[in-house]
Amino acid sequence: MKLLIIGGSRFVGRHMVAAAHARGDSVTLFNRGQSAPAPQAVEFRQGDRRGDLSPLAHGEWDAAIDTCGYLPGEVARMAQMLKGRVGCYLFISSLSVYASNATPNDEDSALGAIDDPDTTTVDARTYGPLKALCEAEVQRAFGGAALLLRPGLVVGPHDPTQRFTYWPARLARAAEGETVLAPGTPDAPLQFIDARDLAAFALHGLEAGLLGVFNVVSESGRWTFGDVLRACAAAAGVVVRFAWRDIADLQAQGIEPWSDMPLAVPATPDYQAFMRTDARRAAAAGLKTRPLAHTVADTLAWYRSLAPEQQVFDKAGLSSEREAAALAALGMA
Ligand SMILES: NC(=O)c1ccc[n+]([C@@H]2O[C@H](COP(=O)([O-])OP(=O)(O)OC[C@H]3O[C@@H](n4cnc5c(N)ncnc54)[C@H](OP(=O)(O)O)[C@@H]3O)[C@@H](O)[C@H]2O)c1
Repeated sequence: MKLLIIGGSRFVGRHMVAAAHARGDSVTLFNRGQSAPAPQAVEFRQGDRRGDLSPLAHGEWDAAIDTCGYLPGEVARMAQMLKGRVGCYLFISSLSVYASNATPNDEDSALGAIDDPDTTTVDARTYGPLKALCEAEVQRAFGGAALLLRPGLVVGPHDPTQRFTYWPARLARAAEGETVLAPGTPDAPLQFIDARDLAAFALHGLEAGLLGVFNVVSESGRWTFGDVLRACAAAAGVVVRFAWRDIADLQAQGIEPWSDMPLAVPATPDYQAFMRTDARRAAAAGLKTRPLAHTVADTLAWYRSLAPEQQVFDKAGLSSEREAAALAALGMA
């Protein structure tokens, strides 16, 4: 296939480029050239999607893969620019589009809305509804020739969010027999998608002519928090004692789910089914998710390959000092 990848140099898009190369697809990359240099084997068109799109004024592609659309206006401009010269517009959306997570969402669940759709602020309140509006703009321009992928938490090597990576790294610095603070209960369901599985499904979907909307995340009920932490301990080669504590008890110590304890979600009714999304449509269409042990081992290997000054958790996770203080306050030191 002849592919145009918008973004493509950081995380999700980077794995798209690698998967396309492995298949022998021809790739044109469009980004600002700030995140990382474009690989030599791709045609690079430098530009800012919020500014001048003229670098994309010529060319035809079987598909465009838009990995970095957050504002409906900018997605509309890109889709209109490419209309008629691209066979399919694949938009990387998010499970955050859904209005609620009180019950398990499928692709037909209600989408979130906001009062200020023209905002350019992308934050916890606006991110999901803006992604939903981006999807609508792709559909407006491309009609039925749109493939809208809604990934859950994306994990694996090169993840800049530090969320999933926190756990393999935390267990890798644990001493034998150490007590490790763990959020909630070990049987809490967890869902995520390895960025490489997302990329493989995207390319498979384009090749197979898939169109429409797909939740792209691991099968509901496949993994628990306990499974993930045990896999992390196994990858690190340590035996530890997990101190599972209620989310409310942790919050009483100033430790928040998701940000301080990555992957854990608030214990409120609206998050009850956040980790129980229905992904059967994608599975039936060919989504394959690799074993948990592979994702954990590869994420840990990537983390260990980073320069020491990059092996930090300043966006997600707990420092050793805060964890030790919390364990002491909870009587678990
Ligand atoms: N992480 C998750 O858990 C998660 C979950 C669900 C969905 N998603 C979705 O997955 C995608 C994340 O993909 P990612 O990690 O590859 O990307 P990203 O960090 O959103 O975007 C990075 C890529 O886009 C390029 N880019 C950023 N701003 C640009 C601009 N103004 N003009 C042109 N290019 C621009 C960057 O290159 P330059 O900086 O060089 O321009 C880089 O190649 C997003 O769409 C996100 O909504 C993520």
